[in-house]
Amino acid sequence: MTADPFESFKVAQRENWKSFAPLAMTTTPSAAKLVAFAGVRPGQNLLDAGCGTGVVAITARRAGARVTGLDLTPELLAVAKENAATAELDDITWKQGDVEDLPFRDGEFDVVLSQFAHIFAPRPEVAIGQMLRVLKPGGRIAFNTWPPELMIGRMFALTASYLPSPPDPKPAPPHQWGDPNIVLKRLGNAVRDVAFDRSMQITQALSPQHYRRMIEQSGGPVVRLLQSLKEDPARLAQFRREYDALVGQYFDGNVVRQDFLMTRATKV
Ligand SMILES: C[S@@+](CC[C@H](N)C(=O)[O-])C[C@H]1O[C@@H](n2cnc3c(N)ncnc32)[C@H](O)[C@@H]1O
Repeated sequence: MTADPFESFKVAQRENWKSFAPLAMTTTPSAAKLVAFAGVRPGQNLLDAGCGTGVVAITARRAGARVTGLDLTPELLAVAKENAATAELDDITWKQGDVEDLPFRDGEFDVVLSQFAHIFAPRPEVAIGQMLRVLKPGGRIAFNTWPPELMIGRMFALTASYLPSPPDPKPAPPHQWGDPNIVLKRLGNAVRDVAFDRSMQITQALSPQHYRRMIEQSGGPVVRLLQSLKEDPARLAQFRREYDALVGQYFDGNVVRQDFLMTRATKV
């Protein structure tokens, strides 16, 4: 078995995502949109790749699917289990794992979903290869991602510009998954009937600064940035000014608007 060149990157990802749970309130409505967009039906065997606290997995289970949720971060899987128990669902399988190395058989699932998750795998071609491998021919893949030109995509780029350049090999930027042309290339001819749509996630906030404070506590990439700028208050203050100005462009009526791309395709 070859060593994973991104092993330490993934250790850092696990650390950075472990405080994400409070933000899952904001991804809960979009989870329902993804499950509907994918056309999930009762009895389907479904994988939620990068399930976090289980928002997609639990929604799909409530729609009648047989569900497995996989995530890199054990702390989030623990919350997912609690969420499933609260919903009185005891038959979802939860697994810790890496979307770049899925612990499932070829063609095991009728549906593979990912909401704002597989985009954080450093090698997009490996992640999508795995997601398609475990999907059966004729099965459905669908995911929600952040367009580079809109708020979260711009926030990713801003955050990355304040972080030290990662060592080689470099992870692919997550916002590339929000560009339909790149998505089409990555899906290639392994799929047919590709469909795109857009939808909106809204987050309540009293000011751009309130929104930032929430992201600083729970949003993986920004959590990491805060660690890295601990000893550089001037640069941190500069980042915060730029961040607040960016959020301000999408803040109206005490909500922050985050538009996202939805992709759906059928495996050939
Ligand atoms: C923004 S959260 C989204 C969680 C959930 N899907 C939702 O919509 O609330 C990103 C998730 O991706 C997971 N993740 C990051 N890299 C991963 C990888 N290589 N394999 C599996 N999960 C990963 C994180 O642990 C985190 O739960």
